[in-house]
Amino acid sequence: MHSLLPTLRRTLGDDAVLTDAADTAGYVTDWTGAFAGAALAVVRPADTAGVADTVRLCAQAGVAVVPQGGNTGLVGGAVPDGSGGDVVLSLERMRRVRGLDPVGDTITVEAGVVLRAVQERAEAAGRLFPLSLGSEGSCTVGGTVSTNAGGTAVLRYGMMRELVLGLEVVLPDGRVWDGLRALRKDNTGYDLKQLFIGAEGTLGIVTAAVLRLFPATPRRATALVALASADAATELLPLLRQECGGTLTTWELLGRQAMELVLTHVPGARDPFDSTHEWYGLVELAAGSDDVGERLEAALHAAAAQGLLLDAVIAGNPAQRTSLWTLREGLAEAQKLDGLSVKHDITVPISSLAGFVAEVGPRLRALLPGLRLVTYGHVGDGNLHYNLSAPVGDEAALRAAAGELTGLIYDAVAERGGSISAEHGLGVLKRGAAATYKSEVELDLMRAVKRALDPGALMNPGKVLP
Ligand code: FAD
Ligand code: MLT
Ligand code: ZN
Repeated sequence: MHSLLPTLRRTLGDDAVLTDAADTAGYVTDWTGAFAGAALAVVRPADTAGVADTVRLCAQAGVAVVPQGGNTGLVGGAVPDGSGGDVVLSLERMRRVRGLDPVGDTITVEAGVVLRAVQERAEAAGRLFPLSLGSEGSCTVGGTVSTNAGGTAVLRYGMMRELVLGLEVVLPDGRVWDGLRALRKDNTGYDLKQLFIGAEGTLGIVTAAVLRLFPATPRRATALVALASADAATELLPLLRQECGGTLTTWELLGRQAMELVLTHVPGARDPFDSTHEWYGLVELAAGSDDVGERLEAALHAAAAQGLLLDAVIAGNPAQRTSLWTLREGLAEAQKLDGLSVKHDITVPISSLAGFVAEVGPRLRALLPGLRLVTYGHVGDGNLHYNLSAPVGDEAALRAAAGELTGLIYDAVAERGGSISAEHGLGVLKRGAAATYKSEVELDLMRAVKRALDPGALMNPGKVLP
């Protein structure tokens, strides 16, 4: 047995250190199932001091640490490699809400708090914490900070980066940086928290965060619209902004293939239209007191008058709203249930998004006939989940062509000045592509930061940096 283990047990308590395969299985395989490794141990400290002790003891023993929150990441960032030499440090036991300030509109929570719990705590205080992801029942504050998570309300509230005011971080040498300030203004040198937001656990372990709260928006109006084309999704955005102003919260795109997967795999999912369409948009307005229903209807009438809409269904009650949202939020799970998929979480400038879809789809199908293009995503942010599912019954063909297909997609993204990872990060899955699509200068700068903060390269090795 590695000499580190008894020391960790003495320091943290036996129940904080898991080594049996049965106990560690869920921590060493990622949500997609594409990444499965082995851990020297899974360590679950209950507080910041415990995290600091774990990191310090691992550093002294030269053992790498893989931070883990809810393990819902989609790029293999939270699971260890197959060596069995690394410690997975799970933040799942750090679930305290340390405080909520209704005047300053902030909430201070520990890293292991699940996103839905933050949303509920804010709601109980008459506030809104706006980050909203399909994984919100499992993903954690630490994970969403470390991946700079996006989701379906970025259009109005921004990504996690815009929602964080302060962080507490355990550094790779075990020191604790207390940056838990709730200040809106603090220009005293480098904005250090930005280094750890989106760093995917490669620069330190987030143990707590001060998050911004917003006024509650109990009034919501939601519609699923049948679009005349993918172009219409981007052409509609300025109209929705004009008509709905600051109440516009969500504008999501769904392609027909994506809708088909949800209708096939998600129990209770139903297509609200009588006929099928190629493209759909999910739009939601939210406000404290405005009558957003009227604003939404006016916007949809204006869009129809411009020939951008073929049809529209407006939710008449919360159950119908949930039914429309299921068609969007059920997608990740549906595609996983359908079998092998190759996911591309890309951003292109919004104005070139429809051109990208029009050009790339036919080229991919020419490469692999029968390929299913499962396109959906946060069109308001220029972010598409441009996912590929295998020709029915022929996963081997997709597996064989995946590299060429992904290269074609990423080249087309790069030609438009886009990004090969909009919201999921690089992890293991995309660090190779980062070597191709990020400039040498950028890679050098990131390596310099990594060397400065983690000279022993023990913090989440093999992730992010090529
Ligand atoms: P984990 O998966 O545990 O870890 C993610 C990364 O962060 C890893 O690199 C890990 O090492 C690191 N990490 C975790 N905790 C810490 C910590 N405390 N300190 C330092 N590093 C840490 N993502 C989006 O952005 N938008 C979406 O709309 C979205 N929808 C999703 C829907 C589904 C169904 C699923 C399964 C995933 C979805 N995701 C989405 C991806 C995922 O939920 C996010 O990346 C989320 O932020 C991960 O949080 P987590 O707690 O599960 O982190
Ligand atoms: C989403 O927007 O549904 C998520 O980012 C997950 C996915 O890419 O499927
Ligand atoms: Zn997404």
